Amino acid sequence: MCGIIGYTGSENVREVLLDALELLEYRGYDSSGIAVKERGTEEIKVCKCAGRVGDLRAICELQRALTGCGIGHTRWATHGGVSDKNAHPHQIGKVTLVHNGIIENYRELIEEYHLDGLKSETDSEVAAALVDRFYEGDPETAIKKAVRKLKGTFALVVLFADQGDAIYCTRNVSPIVATLCDEGAMLASDLTALCRFTNRYFVVPEYHILKLTETELTLTDFDGNRVEPEYQTADWELNSAGKNGYPFYMEKEIMEQPRAIEDTMTNRINSGMPDFTADGVPDTLFTDCDRICIIACGTAMHAGLVAQALVKSILHMHIDVEMASEFMYSDPVIDERTLVIAVSQSGETIDTLEAVKYAKRRGAKCLAVINVKGSSIARESDYVLYTNAGPEIAVASTKAYTTQLAVFYLIVARMAHSRGVFSAEETQSFVRELQRVPQAMQKVLERRHEIHVVARKLLEAKDLFMIGRGLDHSTLLEGSLKMKEVSYIHSEAYASGELKHGPIALITQDTPVVASVTQEKLVSKELSNIKEVKSRGADVVIFIKETLAGNLEEEYSVFRLPAMRDEFMVMPASVALQLLAYYVSSDKGFDVDKPRNLAKVVTVE
Ligand code: AGP
Repeated sequence: MCGIIGYTGSENVREVLLDALELLEYRGYDSSGIAVKERGTEEIKVCKCAGRVGDLRAICELQRALTGCGIGHTRWATHGGVSDKNAHPHQIGKVTLVHNGIIENYRELIEEYHLDGLKSETDSEVAAALVDRFYEGDPETAIKKAVRKLKGTFALVVLFADQGDAIYCTRNVSPIVATLCDEGAMLASDLTALCRFTNRYFVVPEYHILKLTETELTLTDFDGNRVEPEYQTADWELNSAGKNGYPFYMEKEIMEQPRAIEDTMTNRINSGMPDFTADGVPDTLFTDCDRICIIACGTAMHAGLVAQALVKSILHMHIDVEMASEFMYSDPVIDERTLVIAVSQSGETIDTLEAVKYAKRRGAKCLAVINVKGSSIARESDYVLYTNAGPEIAVASTKAYTTQLAVFYLIVARMAHSRGVFSAEETQSFVRELQRVPQAMQKVLERRHEIHVVARKLLEAKDLFMIGRGLDHSTLLEGSLKMKEVSYIHSEAYASGELKHGPIALITQDTPVVASVTQEKLVSKELSNIKEVKSRGADVVIFIKETLAGNLEEEYSVFRLPAMRDEFMVMPASVALQLLAYYVSSDKGFDVDKPRNLAKVVTVE
């Protein structure tokens, strides 16, 4: 869950590292550090602290500008608390190292190799000590010997005091991408940090050694054979990872959604029909299966729950949505006739990745819905549909979620047509409605100040409920997650009909309720449930499809959502709920993009 950068080249190393760490900070932000080696010297200067990259920048200002090479790290603590000494890089002997992942056998290694005198409580320092123990002037041999002793997941990036401006790296599971460009050679945990320089990159293969110098990249396998890097070109624009004048990435990313949905549909609609030819996804994937199993975590799983409702109502197929972290331990019903759909923004979530591997071992075909190109889950899966949302930096996922939904609408339409459930006309009509989504979202965005006014009513709340039925409930599960993670208000999404089976006991005048009412067949029942909480003193905010029920404004705070076919109301409603959470958080003065205790990419189980 940490961010790693390595750079060797002609630019000011300290600035390149700090700028990159700021872009990678979303991966972990409790501590940060850099190590810099000036060209022509053997001294490696380490500067690190508990705190954000901003704090690090302040203490690094004291050091003068340097050219040469360097490595940097942003940490999300696993082993050892948040402190200066536990921050990376770790330095032992000639070795300076940063690590992402978990070394599971670090205690055994300390004992076996008598690694006394470690300065931190981290598993990472043990990796540094081990590389140093094996180092006799040949970096690659030392790294390989150390790696053969490690159990767990790791991306290790190492500087050796006596190896000029070279940077070495190896990995297992934890991702590293690398590139050589005009300004030098660089590697990072993800593409976000490289985007400023280039959109050409390659994924470092597992159990290989990558050596970077200013002018050259050398990739070898553990038997010493040279391997040609497989370069890819990201279609993310350079600098697309900036804030574009918005105070927070979350706001920028919410605002980008109409465009992101357009980009997700591009090349996937042909003569009004959903078409995955360009993605290489065959129709047989959708016809040769008896059941579907969606595996994902957090927001991505909530997108799966919306898909589940659509699949049930349109395709009448058996579909499960499994939390990836529980999947392998819950005896899942998976076989060759199961279509597994893995959903992930980052493509690196370890639970989802492990679940995909497990499902494949059981013979299932796996389709991944992913945002980050070339990520581990994308590579592990049989087929991939990229969401084309562009870089999502805010920890709270917004545009990744709605683009995942857009892909699911396309999958459901294609599947319904290929399985003979939808006629061509029905399919085209469904797709036409999907094409209206960006416009509906835009209408919500243009009226965002109204949602800001509503958000002010929630600022003092300690607890709140979100209630709705059917697809509204699925939408609110995600809306509620957004509220919790960025505003720290305890928020629970409940199926409104279930409320009186217990939780209504918690409703008081201090417990605001947010309701979503977008499904025509459920309106009267949902309004009755809203009355029930109102009668118990709750202030109620209602997000309602504009064509449904009038005269609510006297009793409630109401935001009217642009009308779409019921199946698509999730889209404008989700944008409204994202804005609600965003305004509550920013009005409370929180760091919206980096909520406490969280990290964007969850690479530990
Ligand atoms: C949501 O706002 C969170 N960032 C989190 O729930 C996230 O969706 C989850 O960790 C899954 O991440 P992924 O999509 O990168 O796999």
